[in-house]
Formats: sequence, C-alpha cells, structure tokens
Amino acid sequence: MTASTPSASHKEVALGHAYDGIREYDNPLPGWWKWLFIGTLVISPAYLMYFHVGADGRSIEEQYLAALDANTKKKYAQIGDLTPDAKTLVEYMGKEEWLEVGKSIYKVNCVSCHGSDGGGVIGPNLCDENYKHIKQITDIVKVINEGVAGGAMPAWATRIGNKNDIIMVSAYVASLRGSKPAKPKGPDGSPIAPWSAD
Ligand code: HEC
Repeated sequence: MTASTPSASHKEVALGHAYDGIREYDNPLPGWWKWLFIGTLVISPAYLMYFHVGADGRSIEEQYLAALDANTKKKYAQIGDLTPDAKTLVEYMGKEEWLEVGKSIYKVNCVSCHGSDGGGVIGPNLCDENYKHIKQITDIVKVINEGVAGGAMPAWATRIGNKNDIIMVSAYVASLRGSKPAKPKGPDGSPIAPWSAD
C-alpha cells in the first residue's frame, strides 16, 4: 500500500507520523464545519431552556410518555374497571401488552427502591421465591395500595390514582418472580407457594 501524495496546490504540513501508510496532515477544519459547531453552541442554551428547564411536557421523553398514557387510557376504556382478584391478576400476568403497561408504571415509581429489573435496592428483591408481606398474589395489590413498614414501602393508592394501574403494576411485579436480575439482593422473608388464580 502506498500513501496518497498530496497535490502540489495543497500546502498541508505533514505532522511526521504515519500509520498503515496513512500520513497525518495538519489541515484546518473547513469553514462550514466550524460555523456549524459555533451554531450548535449558540443554539444549545435556548434548546436546553426550552426542552428541559421551562414548562413540563416538552422533552421528547415527556411527549412520548404523555402519548403512551393517552393510549393506555384508551385501552383501559375497552377493558373497563378491573377487579383486583387472583383470577384477574394471573390473567393479566399472561398478557404481554398489559405487562408493558405495568412495567412502565414500575419504571416511573418503583425502580429507585426495587431496581430496574426488580433485583432489589432499598426494597426487597421481587424476583426470588421469598416474600415478607406476601402469601398470595392479591397481597401484592394490598402492599402496593397501603404500603408497609411504616411507609418505608410507601402507600401508592393515592399516588397512582387509577385502580387499573395498580392492577397492571401488581401483575408485572408478580411476573418478575423467577426472573434473573443482574444484581439480586439476598432473600427476605420466607418462600411462598406458586401464584394461584383461586
Ligand atoms: C422508597 C422506597 C420504595 C419505593 C419507591 C417502592 N418500594 Fe416497595 N418496598 C420498599 C421496602 C423498604 C419494602 C420492604 C418493607 C419491609 O421490609 O417490610 C418494600 C416492599 C415491597 C413489596 C413486598 C415485598 C415482600 O417481600 O413482601 C412489594 C410487592 C413492593 N414493595 C412493590 C413495590 C412497587 C410495585 C412499587 C412502585 C409502585 C414500590 N414497591 C415502590 C420500598 C419501596
């Protein structure tokens, strides 16, 4: 391989090192590139203020969440108000698209204490076979609604206003059981029987 020879009209200054036959020259950046860069610097404070500091709901992420929320409400209208019984929870544990709804509620409210994959941080591991306050699947709804341990696990009934949201996040939590989180916290409480729809 031979390195390309710069044409005579160019006044590049070779920097004196070559790698694999490619020699480095000290060429200035093209003018358009510099102006584009300066342009981004000039625009960025306004961009930052508009999308991240000013009013809520302007960032792409917030717009996306709002759209998702609107879509969920539409879908909730089709299923009506669910009853938080074992049969419903087990049924919704098996519905992929509704688990996604539960997962998004979990991501917003629960990750800080239970970890993004349920492995447990301040709160216990939700993926293993051991539970402190749960014997059957409906206890999940109760714990989430009312909280436990004097608010160390907060009560969510008033914060997550929609009862279907509570059911979706409960079904999602139930579905985490048996999954393999990246950094599982050690077991808390005692092993319980598999989820039952009765
Ligand atoms: C501020 C931290 C915090 C947040 C946020 C939080 N939890 Fe908890 N959670 C805890 C703690 C701490 C416990 C264990 C309480 C105890 O030791 O008795 C717990 C317990 C639980 C349990 C019972 C586990 C067991 O072994 O019995 C479930 C289920 C649960 N949380 C679900 C959720 C869900 C769903 C959310 C989001 C809607 C959530 N938690 C948000 C801290 C939190």
